[in-house]
This record gives sequence, structure tokens and C-alpha cells, in this order.
Amino acid sequence: MQKTSAEIGGMGHPIKRKEDGRFIQGKGNYVDDVNLPGMVYGHMVRSPYAHARLKSINTEAAKKLPGVLAIITGEDLAKANLAWMPTLSYDKQMVLATGKVLFQAQEVAFVVAEDRYTAADAAELVEVEYEELPVLVDPHKAMDADAPLLREDRTEKNNKIFHWEVGDKAATDKAFKEAAVVSKVYALSPRCHPAPLETCGCVADFNKATEKLTVWLTSQAPHAHRTVFALVGGIPEQNIRVISPDIGGGFGNKVPVYPGYVCAVVASLTLGVPVKWIETRSENLQSTGFARDYHMTAEVAADKDGKVKAMRVKTLADHGAFNAAAQPTKFPAGLFSICTGSYEFPQAFCEVDGVYTNKAPGGIAYRCSFRVTEAAYLIERVMDVLADDLKMDPVELRQKNFIPAAKFPYQSPLGWTYDSGDYHAAMKLALDTVGYDALLKEQAEKRKKGELMGIGISSFTEIVGAGPAHSFDILGIKMFDSAEIRVHPTGKAICRMGTKSQGQGHETTYAQIVAQELGIPAKDVQVEEGDTDTAPYGLGTYASRSTPTSGAATAMAARKIREKAKKIAAFLLEASEEDLEWEPGKFSVKGAPGKSKTIQEIAFAAYTNIPPGLEAGLEAVNYYDPPNLTFPFGTYIAVVDIDKGTGEIKVRRFVAVDDCGNIINPMIVEGQIHGGLTEGFAIAFMQEITYDESGNVQGGTFMDYLVPTAVETPHWETGKTTTPSPHHPFGAKGVGESPNVGSPAAFVNAVVDALSHLGVKHIDMPITPWKVWNILKEKGLTG
Ligand code: CDP
Repeated sequence: MQKTSAEIGGMGHPIKRKEDGRFIQGKGNYVDDVNLPGMVYGHMVRSPYAHARLKSINTEAAKKLPGVLAIITGEDLAKANLAWMPTLSYDKQMVLATGKVLFQAQEVAFVVAEDRYTAADAAELVEVEYEELPVLVDPHKAMDADAPLLREDRTEKNNKIFHWEVGDKAATDKAFKEAAVVSKVYALSPRCHPAPLETCGCVADFNKATEKLTVWLTSQAPHAHRTVFALVGGIPEQNIRVISPDIGGGFGNKVPVYPGYVCAVVASLTLGVPVKWIETRSENLQSTGFARDYHMTAEVAADKDGKVKAMRVKTLADHGAFNAAAQPTKFPAGLFSICTGSYEFPQAFCEVDGVYTNKAPGGIAYRCSFRVTEAAYLIERVMDVLADDLKMDPVELRQKNFIPAAKFPYQSPLGWTYDSGDYHAAMKLALDTVGYDALLKEQAEKRKKGELMGIGISSFTEIVGAGPAHSFDILGIKMFDSAEIRVHPTGKAICRMGTKSQGQGHETTYAQIVAQELGIPAKDVQVEEGDTDTAPYGLGTYASRSTPTSGAATAMAARKIREKAKKIAAFLLEASEEDLEWEPGKFSVKGAPGKSKTIQEIAFAAYTNIPPGLEAGLEAVNYYDPPNLTFPFGTYIAVVDIDKGTGEIKVRRFVAVDDCGNIINPMIVEGQIHGGLTEGFAIAFMQEITYDESGNVQGGTFMDYLVPTAVETPHWETGKTTTPSPHHPFGAKGVGESPNVGSPAAFVNAVVDALSHLGVKHIDMPITPWKVWNILKEKGLTG
């Protein structure tokens, strides 16, 4: 790839983020900043019970409160056949409860009032009579014969959502029978929440005169949401405009369609005025977009030298009351079958059972490519258990089993074709950076003195960029993505895509791709996303798919433009196209470097001096169907010290070596890694949403659900290797979620390593000081 000048700012330049100017001045434009004339406000009445029959709803007192305009119940929606809506996983979900409620904080009625406070006050006055039903919280009990039946709406009279399996069971079982060593771990990936800075919300504006519905939405996938609104609401799709303005973090939380959106639309259709609905923080934490809740058992068969022979995985997936997260149709357990990770397993078998419980719908891909985080955690944990069983160094075990660089593209036993990788190189850089040998010595000395120090390794492989249309779709819509570039007569450009940034810096990096491909300075390229009336159709941003899909589409569209630009240049230079050579920003006649035309001159000619036979203008669109996913990887090493008196864990060092192929903007990538590591740190040590036996959600406020601040967050040391993707137009792989995928195992492995000489094999996340202190107490070490 030709390096562009700093002035052009193409690939590899750490240019500052264009969008930050408005963000740091407080001039971002979020959904709650949208204020329209005559706008009114909606507020949800929510169930205090996790499972209860709805006996009656009395709205009389609420309606009498001055300022209240309407109260919508499930029965009202049922009249319009809108009480239930389809989910993005071929299930259905109640918009507003009818018959019964299935989780605490479920949506029961929608109050609309002239202002937000009146709506909230009136919601308190809605009298709902419930009759409590037995509650199912433990997913392990969901399939018991005496388990309460949750989803009475289904023909299947049980709580099972799906059973999914992949791999060769017979060959895997045989390998286990013949194995010298079998190691096993039961690991929980606890229910957690992305807790984005901005909660979910919308402003729905139905214009009765034009019959056009405009919805400002906290949406990671505006086009997909437009199509769902059209299908559910029966509104012609051309009359729906979804605008996703600035988004304050998504992390998967803003992919599903939530009842609040539908109610705001219904209210606007009914009242003929714009309706705003914005979740409170607690509503966000209690009812929308939970992640993980995977109860996983992994076994690894190996010979006595540590060469792995087979992997067997059995997992229970708790999806809550509705299977509402977006999953590619063919993959009910997402991309969990990447669970053989970075290792050359001859055989593997993986099965997942999805069940309903009385919890808010879960299963979203929290900074994660559809369950890859759970998979990476599991394999990196069980490899450490195997190393411990074999009394082998976990680094040596990993190195012995890495898929060698020469074996890529590599076919995994669970069906994936890894595009490229060099795991030994990433591991070596991480070991050298952290000073592994010296750390091992230090640890041995500390152990002699009774001090607790641990080193945790994670050599993860990711799978991002969903996905090839032949196997990836959501509700039948293929998972391609798009870019449209228009070059203006003065050589500046606008670029629109089907993805939608939520803080990842797309306005900068897509401009850099155009700069690289066309030589138009990145500062001259305006990037716009999120308006379905203007952007080409796409499936949105989640699962680190933007660079592999829309990033690729941007390069392909730019290349189409360059082809046309070449024709125009040949005309202007009175040369044949074959005689022209390209360097970023201009075409020159070979051997006559003075004879050249810049992209700006060519753009002007495209509108003012058009070659005969060519269409005017300089623009192109590309819908990119990736031939494969991309497989970023890395090695992370955490070093922890544990205080015996309090159980407190200090992450002394954390080295993160990532490989996401060719990098567009190293500064943005580093920022992505810092953010993802911080989230991984929080998941490993601080965050969990649990439920008591009555289904009351614990952790539904920031008092209980902890978000790390700069005080707790460790210092991150980052490094990189570069193994380009062979099939991506500019060799890039996605990166946004890698740090969140790879880091939890490094943290947990470090803590377990610090305690392994005491016989500790595994501790479930979040590893709180209290948990560690109890272990130390049991071992008689607290003093
Ligand atoms: O889909 P999402 O934007 O969340 O994830 P991504 O494709 O991994 O990109 C995250 C950010 O990192 C974007 O601004 C990308 O353009 C940037 N990136 C990069 O500069 N180089 C890469 N090889 C991958 C991503």
C-alpha cells in the first residue's frame, strides 16, 4: 500500500478525530437533544413482579392528572394487532403486557403527557392488579418437569428456545476416551450490561398531512429498524425515515427494537404530534439489552506432553423472557463455535441450549461478535486449567498448540476458515514487553515469602465482520454493508454508509480510506451515517463489522471512482489509459512526471469538461459482501498482586498486543483498545446483574452495578503485530471488540495463577475482593 502524505492523511496516519470538535464542546446532537414544536413525552409503567398474571389495569386516576394526553395498554395495542412484535431472532416479544408479565420492569402501559414529569407522575397513578406466579430464575431449572411454563403463547409447552450443536460428536468422544489427560472447567460468563453513556430513546414524529413517519432513534442499525417498523406497523417503508444522530455508546445495547420505540410511534400516530421517550438509567439497566449469561462447561483432551486432541463444550444460554437480541439466523448461539480459539484441535464438539427465564431479554453482543467473548473466555480459561493439571507453563502449552502461521487459511473443526494469523509473533512481543521470565522469578520468590502474585495469559482469536451473505442474515436480510461516495466539482467529497458510529470515530476513519484510495485529503471528505433517507441500505454497526464491511465498501466504491477518474485523466492529458500511473492524488503519464492531473482537476472536469461518451459526475456506490469474516487476534498478559488481608486485587501491569491487520488510524485503534480493556476489566472484577429468588433484579442502578473510573482503571501498555487479512480490500480486520473479548480471561487467569499453588482452579467473574478474601479465609491465609 502506498503511504500517503500527512496532508492527504490516508491509511496509517494518527489524525485527530473530526467528530471530537463538537463532542468536546458539548455540541453533539443526541436523540434527547431533538426538540420539536408541540412535542409530548412518554413514560413506561413497568411491572414490579417477575412473573404475574395481569388481573386489571385501571388508568382512571392517571388520566385525570392535568397534562396527561393518553395512556396506552397492551389491550389497546392488541386491537391494532400490535401487542406483540417480532424480535430480530425469530421470536416475538410483548410490546405492552397482555395476560401476564414475564420479568421485573417489563413494559405494562405507556403514559403520554405534555411534559416528562407529568408523564412520570401519571405512571405512578396507573393501578395494576397482579396475581403472582411461580418465578423461574435459575436457567438450570428451566427444563425441569416442574418448572413454571413461561411462554404460554407458544405451541411448545416448555421453556426451551433452541438446541444447537456443531462438530463431530462421535470423533470427539472417541478422542476423549483415548486421551491421557482430560481437563475440565465450569465457567460462568455472568449476565452483565453494556451501560452506555446515553440510554436508549427516540422521538417519533408522524406527520398526518404527509403520512410520513420520522423517528430519531438511538439505533446501531437504522435501516434494519426502518424495515422492522414497516413490517410491524404496516407503514410503507418509503414513508419511514429513521435518523440515528450522535449515539453515546451502543455496545450492542442499541441493536434490538424496544417496546418504548413502538409505543412512541403508536402514540405519535394516534395523537398526531411528536412523542419523545427516553429511558432513565435504571430502566436501561433493568430492562434493555443484557449480555452474556452463558453457563459453560469445557473439557479438553490432551496427551501427557500437552498436545491437545479434542475439545467438548456444553453450554446453557439464559435469554430471559424473550429471545430478542439480534443473531444471524443460522447461528442461534452466535459465533460461539469459535471456541477452539487459537489452537489446533483435531476434533471438537459444541452444543448450546437456549432457555427462557423470568428475566429481561438478554443475549446481546456486548462489544462482541455474537458470543465470541464467551467463547474466548472459555477456551483461554480451560487452557490454563489444562496447564495447571499438567504442571506446565501456560505459555509453553499455548505455544505448543498454536495454529502455526504457515497453516493459514486454517480450517477449524467447528467450521470456520481463519483468514490469517501469526500467534507466535504476538505472544513473543507480549512476553518480551512484559518481561515474562523475570516475572516468573519474582513470583517464585514472592511465593516463598507468602506473597500472592499472579500472571495471566490470554491468546485469543476473534471472528468479526459478519458476514458473507451466503451464511449471514438477520431476519432474512443479508449481512452485506455499503458505501456511497460523491466527489464534488471542487474535489471535496461526501461519503455515506450503511453503518453507524456510536463513538468509534467513523467520520475520521472512513475519510481516511477515501483519502488513501483517491488522494483527496481526509479533511475534505465529509462522512455521514445514520439517516435512512440519504445513506445506502446497510445492516449497521455492531460486532466490529464496520471496517470489514463498510470500510471495504468504501475502498471498493473509491476504486470505481478511480477507474472513471482515469478515463477523465486520459482525456485531459490526451494519453491512453494504459500510459497512466497513479499515485495518491494524481494520475501522471508514465515517463513524463510533469504531465499529470490531480484528482481535484479531474473532479472539476467530471462536471465541466466531460469526455465524449462518459456520464457526467464522479460518484459510486458499493454493496460489499465480504467473502469471509476476518480473524483478528492478540496476546494479553495481566500481572496482579493480591492483598491477603483484604482480598483486594491490584492489576500491576497489563500488556495488550493486538493484530487487526492493516490499521487505518493507529490513534483511534489505541483508543478502542483502551476502552475495550476498561470494559473487560469491569466485567472481570466489578459487574454482574443477578436476581433474587423472586426475580428482583439486583444491580439495577449504578449504586450496585459498578462502572470503573480513572481511579480503578489500570494503566494499559499496548503493542501490535500486523498480519493483513488476505481477502479484505486493504488488508484490515475489525478491532473494536478485541480488547473486551480477550481481556477477561487474562484477568481471571492472573488471579487464579496467584492462588493456584493453594489448589484454586477457577473463580467465576466478577472476581471481587470479597470472593478472594473468602477463598483466602478458607485456606487460613487472612491472618
Ligand atoms: O464496527 P466498529 O466500528 O465498532 O468496529 P471496527 O470496525 O473494529 O472499528 C472501530 C474503529 O477502529 C473504527 O473507527 C475503525 O475505522 C478503526 N479501525 C482502524 O483504524 N483500523 C482497523 N484495522 C480496524 C478498525
